Amino acid sequence: MDDNAFIEIKKEYDDFYRDLLRQGKLPLRNTGRGFWGHAIAEEIYSAFKRLNLQKSKSFVDLGSGDGKVVLIASLFCKRAVGIEMDNELHQKALEIQRKLSIPNAIFYNNDFFAHSISEFDVVFTYPDAPMERGLEKKLLNELNGKLIHYGHHFHPLQLKKEHSFFINGDLFTVYSR
Ligand SMILES: C[S@@+](CC[C@H](N)C(=O)[O-])C[C@H]1O[C@@H](n2cnc3c(N)ncnc32)[C@H](O)[C@@H]1O
Repeated sequence: MDDNAFIEIKKEYDDFYRDLLRQGKLPLRNTGRGFWGHAIAEEIYSAFKRLNLQKSKSFVDLGSGDGKVVLIASLFCKRAVGIEMDNELHQKALEIQRKLSIPNAIFYNNDFFAHSISEFDVVFTYPDAPMERGLEKKLLNELNGKLIHYGHHFHPLQLKKEHSFFINGDLFTVYSR
């Protein structure tokens, strides 16, 4: 894997969060229908290595926030997609993608419920709402690959748990249909 490319991505996001803090803002907020909190770059990169993400061709992050997870996934997969309804976060994802000239990431600024996920090898979620509010139903209908779930909260109840592991105390769980 290209550790230098990862370091460049991480630097852009560290700068973004530092700028927000300088303006007295936290790098987390309500986005209207959801809530933005960001994944930890090193944890995501380590988890994707451990999961051999390079063996998967396509990846989608449902609720991709500022795009960090998608840009890290683009180092492993041919096609990395992010869907985020908040326009400001979407624009930040595009800005960093352009700055780093990453060609194989695609960002959509809309509701992930409007997109089919059946074609993706890997679906990622760092959820901001309980799964029974619709996401688990969507996964039960459309998931053909694996789900990588990040965090201790809002786990699916009906998908099949394959395995899980901790990185720095944060939980990664892999599910299938
Ligand atoms: C906890 S954040 C995770 C951000 C990113 N995946 C990460 O790990 O850094 C959840 C994001 O999902 C977005 N979101 C929630 N429901 C959504 C929906 N139905 N369609 C698109 N985005 C959604 C929120 O706006 C928020 O940015």
